[in-house]
Amino acid sequence: MRRKIIAGNHKMNLLPQETARFVTDLLQLIPESPEPEVIVFPPFTNLTAGLAARGESHISVGAQYTDWRDQGAYTGQVSAAMIKDLGVEWVLCGHSERRTLFDESDEIVNKQIQAALRNGLKPMLCIGESLEEREKGQTKAVLEKQIQNSLKDFTAEELALLVIAYEPIWAIGTGKTATPEDANATIKDVRAMVAGLYGVEFAEKLRILYGGSVNPGNIRQLMAEPEIDGALVGGASLKAESFAELVKYNV
Ligand code: PGA
Repeated sequence: MRRKIIAGNHKMNLLPQETARFVTDLLQLIPESPEPEVIVFPPFTNLTAGLAARGESHISVGAQYTDWRDQGAYTGQVSAAMIKDLGVEWVLCGHSERRTLFDESDEIVNKQIQAALRNGLKPMLCIGESLEEREKGQTKAVLEKQIQNSLKDFTAEELALLVIAYEPIWAIGTGKTATPEDANATIKDVRAMVAGLYGVEFAEKLRILYGGSVNPGNIRQLMAEPEIDGALVGGASLKAESFAELVKYNV
């Protein structure tokens, strides 16, 4: 059984005390041991506040990005080593906003995953096609390329902690969700691609989430699909009440 993950990507939102408040409120609103694993990805400046607020609870904290190098003359950058030292557990690698707005290539994403694993962080690899690619019937080819290049030269053992988030770009922040059937079918394709690289056993254990306009109104249908192992949520994760609804999708 793959344990589901409900993850909130706060993007460039909230101040440190607001992240602390969010986590404190969330802990009040969800069961002490919820069925899904819960991860919050606040901005760098809020990681410490998020970690302090979660205390000894089950909530995990992740960063939204790190540089792939551990240290050096890279003004403005933050390394995986630095966030690991804070107590952070997860890192998003290759979110589509990073890829499109900050020119992150699959090669860079590959190095970020290396940096995450080298520093004991769990990588959540984000993949997804644009509307144009989808309309041209290129979805499978685009996802295959992203997976092959981002996971190049890793062994299955090294990737034991990997999670993949399938986020069609046209569904992010737009209110347009892939239908549950569509998301399920694409994630099934992604699992088959991973099986081609690392074997069926690995692929069957791998958790693959869906992301893109997930909200309390569609979470149940999405989570009912057998291939969808959770959700990576932007907008609907910013308020504790709404994020709690997502965590409690099965309650
Ligand atoms: P959204 O964002 O839920 O606001 O569509 C998802 C994401 O960017 O991870």
